[in-house]
Parts: sequence; C-alpha cells; structure tokens
Amino acid sequence: MDQLLEWRKEFPILDNTVYLISHSLGAMPRRTRDRLQEYADMWSTRGIRSWEEGWWMMATNIGDKIGTIIGAGPGEVVMHPNVSICQSIIASCLTFEGKRNKIVSESLNFPSNLYIYHSLERLGAEVVSVPSDDGISVPLSRMLEAIDETTKLVSVSHVIFRSSFIQDLKAITQRAHEVGALVVADIYQSAGTVPLNVREIGLDFATGGSVKWLCGGPGAGYLYVNRDLWPKLQPRLTGWLAHEDPFAFEVGPNKYADNIYRFLNGTPSVPAMYAAMSGYEIINEVGVDKIREKSIRQTALLVDIAENAGFKINCPKNAADRGGTVVIDVPHGQQVTTELLRRDFLIDHRPGAGIRVAPHFYSKDEELDLIVREIKTILETKAYEQHSAALAH
Ligand SMILES: Cc1ncc(COP(=O)(O)O)c(C=O)c1O
Repeated sequence: MDQLLEWRKEFPILDNTVYLISHSLGAMPRRTRDRLQEYADMWSTRGIRSWEEGWWMMATNIGDKIGTIIGAGPGEVVMHPNVSICQSIIASCLTFEGKRNKIVSESLNFPSNLYIYHSLERLGAEVVSVPSDDGISVPLSRMLEAIDETTKLVSVSHVIFRSSFIQDLKAITQRAHEVGALVVADIYQSAGTVPLNVREIGLDFATGGSVKWLCGGPGAGYLYVNRDLWPKLQPRLTGWLAHEDPFAFEVGPNKYADNIYRFLNGTPSVPAMYAAMSGYEIINEVGVDKIREKSIRQTALLVDIAENAGFKINCPKNAADRGGTVVIDVPHGQQVTTELLRRDFLIDHRPGAGIRVAPHFYSKDEELDLIVREIKTILETKAYEQHSAALAH
C-alpha cells in the first residue's frame, strides 16, 4: 500500500488528468486557494498595516520553509521572483577583470544561467562550458579538471533539467574550494525530490524556484548564501531593502544589512509567496527522503515499461544518477506531446531530449502504464499527424 497516495485528495487536478509534469509545474495544493484568499482579505481589510503585520518579513519567513527542505538554517534563504534574478545577484557580487576571471559551468546547465554568465564576458569573464558526450551526463573528471586557480565561480545544476542527470555537488564544491573558487548550485530540479543539504555540501550559494517539485507556483524563487560570505559580498544588483535601515531612506551608497536581507533589492512578490507556502509545507510534511524513495521506485518502473515498449530512454538508467524525471525519446516527439496534452496526459517535450515524464509523491503506478500505452497508441494510430499538419501551417 502506497501511503503517499493519501495526498492525492490535496491536489484537485489529479482527479481529471494524468499529471506527470512536476518537473515543470507541480500540481496546485487545494489549500493554496485559501492562502491566496488570505492575501486578498489581508490587503482588503488591513491595508497598509499588512506590511508591518507580516508582509515585510515574508522574504525570510517563507525562505525558512525552503531552508528546512534544503538544509539551510533560519534566516539563510531569501525570496526573489526567479532564478535568473538570483543568479544575477550572485554575479553582481563578483568582479572579473583580474587573472581569476573564469566561470566554469556545464553545457547542459539551464540556458538562463549561461546567458547571464556570457553577459559577464563584457566585464572580463571567461566562460568555460564543460561539454557532455551523450547529451545526458557531464563527466565528473572533466568538470573537476576545468576548475583551476583562475576560476572565480563554478556554477552547476544539481540535476540537469534536460536529462535528469544528478551531478556530484560535493566533489565539485570540494575541488572549487581547494583552488579558492566559489560555487553556486542551481537546485531547481532537485529541491523537493532529491535530498540535499546545502550546509553539509558546503555550497556558497544555491538558488531555485517553486514552480516544479515544490508545488509552489510561479514568482517564488529563492537564494541561499553561506553566512560566512555575507560580510564579504556587496551585490551591485541591489535596492533599498538591502540597506541596514531601509526606512531611514538615506541617499548615497548602500549601507548593506548585515543579514541575508543584503541580497534583497526591491519590494518582494508578496502574492507569489502566499501562493507558494502550502507547497513548502506539504513537502516538509511528506519529507524529501520519502519522496525520493518513491521516486526511485517509480522512475525505475517507468524506464522498464518504456523500454519494454521499445522506446529509447534519454536519462540515466542508474537510479543513483537520476533525478525525478524520465526522458522518453519517441519519433515525432513534439507532435505526440501535443496529442497527449489534448488527451489530458500532462507532460512536456524538450528538443534534442524527448518527452519528459515525472511522477511525484502523489502519482499512481498505474499512471506510468497509462502514459506509455497512450504514447504507443498515438504512434500506432498516427494520431500525431494532425499536429504535424498544424505545425506545417
Ligand atoms: C534547472 C533550472 N533552472 C532555472 C530554471 C528557470 O529559472 P527562472 O526561475 O529564472 O525562470 C528552470 C526551469 O524553468 C530550471 O529547470
């Protein structure tokens, strides 16, 4: 008996779809509607007093709920709208004009991150993207070799978004620190499905968002910064809420707060944080270890079912190397995906990778059979062809 299926009633969309897309948009918890109502009620009845009565503190109070999922301490995580902003804040703490100007990343990193690093070439940065041979994994030895005394920042995804490959953050961080480089991990595709502890790993920075495994919806990104670094870092991407006394409204250079608020800038996205909190509470309640245990079982099962149906798998076969997503490469993948969506099978497709299918703690085993069977039927009946025609127009 799968105890975690008890949670299904908390996620209304599971009643009428085969929901296997938590790597992209986790299902909305039922209680999120109440939290959004609370936000509206507070604004409507408490008005300006809402800031003092909770809204100002949300950037860290809500961050603390993520902290317990990723192993950060209280007051060590601050909320931002998205990962791109968090990466830009980190980059704005650094300079690149000297000999130590290298940013080491992997070619399979999320494009947004790479766009930000390449923009730093204008400030003297040299960007090295470590290649992958198979489009799935990044050899650890190659990653470690790229990190040397000229490296300022190592930026890696914990779990690769395209292939679900898990990188060895501990080994990468150790190497980076040996040569005096800083490490930022994009943990968007691991937080909430693959256990991690930012402090045990020794990460300098971690960032992610809430749209996916955390079931928190859009607009609630987060940034962890190792507290030992706080006094040394002064983000250029800044604003009045990073000031030690924002309500003094002092002009002139920023006097940075001595806590995680120094990494804030302007007014935080309050409604997004209301929308996100239920997801964090549920993930904390369920526990990432339990989620991972089920995920390993279900992703292994899905790999088996898909391979037996004759499909190619474009993610690691070894469970220890694989995050929560299975990537199934089928002919006409984009069109098959469009047809699956039309039939209420919610998944997505990434070019050069395949159809990404992600069971989460609320998924049933039978749904894994159903999706593979549906893909087979769509291919056999050529039901995808109507979408090929639509694409051609
Ligand atoms: C690993 C990873 N990083 C970053 C993002 C997106 O970041 P942002 O919050 O800037 O939209 C995604 C997916 O949308 C992702 O999978």
